[in-house]
Amino acid sequence: MATILALETSCDETAVAVVRDRAILSSVVSSQIDIHQPYGGIVPEVASRQHVVTLGAELEAALTQAGLGWDAIDGVAATCAPGLVGALLVGLTAGKTLAMVHQKPFLGIHHLEGHIYANYLASPELQPPYLCLLVSGGHTSLIYVKACGQYQTLGQTRDDAAGEAFDKVARLLGLSYPGGPVIDKLAQTGNARAFPLPEGNISLPEGGFHPYDSSFSGLKTAMLRLVEKLRADGVDPLPIADLAASFQATVARSLTKRAIACARDYGLTTIAVGGGVAANSGLRQQLTEAAKHHHLKVLFPPLSLCTDNAAMIGCAAADHLNHGHCSGLEIGAQSRLAITRVMELYG
Ligand code: KG4
Ligand code: ZN
Repeated sequence: MATILALETSCDETAVAVVRDRAILSSVVSSQIDIHQPYGGIVPEVASRQHVVTLGAELEAALTQAGLGWDAIDGVAATCAPGLVGALLVGLTAGKTLAMVHQKPFLGIHHLEGHIYANYLASPELQPPYLCLLVSGGHTSLIYVKACGQYQTLGQTRDDAAGEAFDKVARLLGLSYPGGPVIDKLAQTGNARAFPLPEGNISLPEGGFHPYDSSFSGLKTAMLRLVEKLRADGVDPLPIADLAASFQATVARSLTKRAIACARDYGLTTIAVGGGVAANSGLRQQLTEAAKHHHLKVLFPPLSLCTDNAAMIGCAAADHLNHGHCSGLEIGAQSRLAITRVMELYG
């Protein structure tokens, strides 16, 4: 059993949590959305500075809410890759310093591995092997989870991530940042069959399509052309709810089709979903129905654990520490790192 103090500052959420294996003892998340919203996206330098402002009070709050002192903490963890380097450095430097001062093992954690581990917090009985559909603002992948730190990427987007597509299409429709939750809400009142849109198939040189890889940039361009045509035809106001519903249903269909095919082909009976787009109601509905049809189990973390938080980072760190993994204090922040290279963080 391992009790971890975990920090997450890879993007625009400052988060601290205390986790004991697969149980959350405290979790504090402070979103910077209001600060970045006027810019229509995240401003990296602003994100880093805000992490510095917020982190100290969050650390105190997380320990107080957990009701624990430093003697009860077995290790300190911080997200070290991938993400905005300046933002990552804030949590990473704080985490390493705390580990040094309190003489605890330190663990650098891969952000996407954290998103996978959010599923263990919600479903502690989950055990590998299983398929993880990882859909965040920066990544869209189908990952074969073999064991702690052992991952194989079976499919991925060739261009935009699913969350990025939601954010860009929301901007195109004149909606606020981040686009996912806004489109999701609007889609509830729209007609998902109003506009047929491309699902982003990837053609193979030998003919046919890649079974698991996808593209979202074509869908984004199709949305742009559609909006331009509606405007040229004098349609005013734009049927925003129908556009949102058609777009969301297409993304959900594309992800569902590939996740189901991948799980079936590899004989995996459970699909666990992770990342901000796992909060999407259209994806939740389509994937749940399709999984039921194919007698597969599908797991979605609760909404609060889909988007960035430190509890998922603590859960991943606890498993690594229980396996005897630990990072050196010379570990740095990396903007990119494939999930297949997680074990390079421990030596
Ligand atoms: O995992 P996350 O919090 O941060 C990254 O690691 O990227 O994901 C953020 C992404 C954003 O693109 C946001 O628009 C999207 O998740 N998102 C959603 C929903 N909630 C958040 N996308 C679709 N539907 C939602 N309900
Ligand atoms: Zn994330």
